[in-house]
Amino acid sequence: MEEREMIEAIKALKKEKNGIIFAHNYQIPEIQEIADVVGDTLTLCQEALKTEAALILLSGVRFMAETIKILVPNKKILLPVLDAGCPMAETIQAEDLRLFKKEYPHIPILCYIKSSAEVKAESHICCTASNAESVVKSIDAEKLLFIPDQNLGAYIGTRIPEKEVISWEGFCTTHHRVRGLEVETARKNHPEGLIVVHPECPYPVLEKADFVGSTDQIIDYVAQSQGKTFIIGTEMGLLHRLRKNNPNKKFHLLSPVLTCFDMKKTSLEDVYHGLLKEQHEIIVEEETRKRASKPLKEMLSRMGGQV
Ligand code: 13P
Repeated sequence: MEEREMIEAIKALKKEKNGIIFAHNYQIPEIQEIADVVGDTLTLCQEALKTEAALILLSGVRFMAETIKILVPNKKILLPVLDAGCPMAETIQAEDLRLFKKEYPHIPILCYIKSSAEVKAESHICCTASNAESVVKSIDAEKLLFIPDQNLGAYIGTRIPEKEVISWEGFCTTHHRVRGLEVETARKNHPEGLIVVHPECPYPVLEKADFVGSTDQIIDYVAQSQGKTFIIGTEMGLLHRLRKNNPNKKFHLLSPVLTCFDMKKTSLEDVYHGLLKEQHEIIVEEETRKRASKPLKEMLSRMGGQV
């Protein structure tokens, strides 16, 4: 089937099945173009709570589809490529947290959204890259455990020095490879450029950047900035929306390592087959789902959002 034909077939399937397509900002351009919602992890959660569609096909990675299922259990959630995962999410297991809680029962556990349903179920509150700082400020404790991203954890610790943030040792295998030296080189090569990075990068990168934010926050920052050239320190998929929204601005990738292979596993054809065969349905065991929904709802309610 030709691409144009496939796009028409996808549209017809969506209508027939009362379905909607969500895509994360890192997905390939063809999928972003056909998606009804493109956004960061928080936006995808918020939109899942708003939509009246009965079926959501999530083009992204597993923890995103699972999180949406936790929040809207009555909808059918599809992940077109089942092995699109997240290495960071795999760095921690629920059993690790049960042991931690036994030893430190009074330390709250703040769980980054890039984690499994079982890990969320053992946590007290969740956050995303866009709200981590405000969630930490809202926690009524001097000390907390942040899981699983060491870089975001360390960054929040520097932003809120009055709290002790103990970080798990997980990291994003894509962002973690960016080096502080690459920021220095980018400054030399593009002295007029603004360096904009995701908080999953290591601290030597974050401390030298002009702006640190989630993927949607980067989109907003660039849109509002008077700058004309931007060096982007996050997964290269974000360049599509940035270029589309800002045709008169120039974008360079901070580092050649910024490609996430899991985020690139899904093709337009997978989306088509996903809708056609309603595959692969994401199921979260009900007891785990109920427990995992608590920290997610806690996050959303502290942001004044719909829960
Ligand atoms: P965002 O919430 O900023 O989109 O982050 C998702 C992600 O996977 C970052 O690597």
